[in-house]
Amino acid sequence: MIIKEIKKDMYGFVLHDWSRKLFDELIPLPDGTTYNSYFIKDNKSVLIDTADPTKTEELFAILKEIDVANIDYIVSNHSEQDHSGSIPALLSAFPNAKVVTSEKGAGFLKSMLLVPQEKIMTVADGEELSLGARTLKFLHTPWVHWPETIVTFCPEEKTLFPCDFFGSHLASSDFYARCDEKQYISSKRYYAEIMMPFRNNISRHLGLIEDLSIDIIAPSHGPVYNNPSFIIDAYKDWVSDKVKNQVVLPYVSMHGSVAKMTEFFVDELIKRGVEVKPFNLTSVDIGELAMSLVDAATLVLGSPMVLAGPHPVALYAAYLFKILRPKTRFASVIGSFGWGGNMLKVITDMLPTQGLEVIEPVMAKGYPKEEDFVKLQNLAEEIQKRHKELI
Ligand code: FEO
Repeated sequence: MIIKEIKKDMYGFVLHDWSRKLFDELIPLPDGTTYNSYFIKDNKSVLIDTADPTKTEELFAILKEIDVANIDYIVSNHSEQDHSGSIPALLSAFPNAKVVTSEKGAGFLKSMLLVPQEKIMTVADGEELSLGARTLKFLHTPWVHWPETIVTFCPEEKTLFPCDFFGSHLASSDFYARCDEKQYISSKRYYAEIMMPFRNNISRHLGLIEDLSIDIIAPSHGPVYNNPSFIIDAYKDWVSDKVKNQVVLPYVSMHGSVAKMTEFFVDELIKRGVEVKPFNLTSVDIGELAMSLVDAATLVLGSPMVLAGPHPVALYAAYLFKILRPKTRFASVIGSFGWGGNMLKVITDMLPTQGLEVIEPVMAKGYPKEEDFVKLQNLAEEIQKRHKELI
């Protein structure tokens, strides 16, 4: 754990989860994660976000270590349990505390954590709460990444507490982000997995945040930024409409036909100056796959036919693509079949209908033959042409 006095009487608590491997039983965590909580001591004392229920004891140990005798407010920027999970225990230990949250947040805290209504104080968008010498201003920023999410700003300390927003699943002994390649990749992976489906909302919220005078961004996962432009500029780039001359190629092959097509197609794209990232779906880290979709102009999915439809892992990749809602402009499919089936329709029906153009797929009967390789060359040519028009 880390206890850091960021400014006088304003603390950051970092609770490391070094060995956690999955989040939501879905998202791989190659670098573990942290749950960060913040404490401000003023005429009124406030704890901003709490911790995962597994870390409640550690949070109490920290409060004891810095002699916290009273908490007046517990701000819940986001109701997901990794930040709200310690609230019931805190309310038992500090019975005078009120939980400060949005109206929607109140609903979630009541339904998920059984927090009683009388313990909750809801705040409207832009509402302020005086702590004494300091103020907390609550900005409603829905869909980063739940509908109830808010961020808390302390103007006197020029510090923003955005909870999940601007976070990273990176357990580190550094309190402040190094703002290096490692941090950039961790933040981009986190954006891709958690925030990307809400790109348009985030774009609007960035506008709000840019109007604030901020020295410190203190998220509730990963290191804290004392150089906020590092993460704000990265987000501006990721949420922009700009795409890169890249093809993401998740594929699966049963008997080598799709593998051969993929290998040939990758080389044809490279020859044409198109960056390509193949991912074998039998061993893929879906975080890497999601991250590659942040900027890529095109997705090509490779699959054999299985029982008259796509291989199930290819369908899983198509579903992930659909729910992650990247800004990808073009999609296609390359595949192989033995005797028939409906693979193309099943895959293309799953792809988003808005803002995505499907380029003529290439299907080989059995092992790919000369005419199939020509079609793959044509597909590479078409992608190169579309990218040139766009980028
Ligand atoms: Fe870190 Fe959405 O919880």
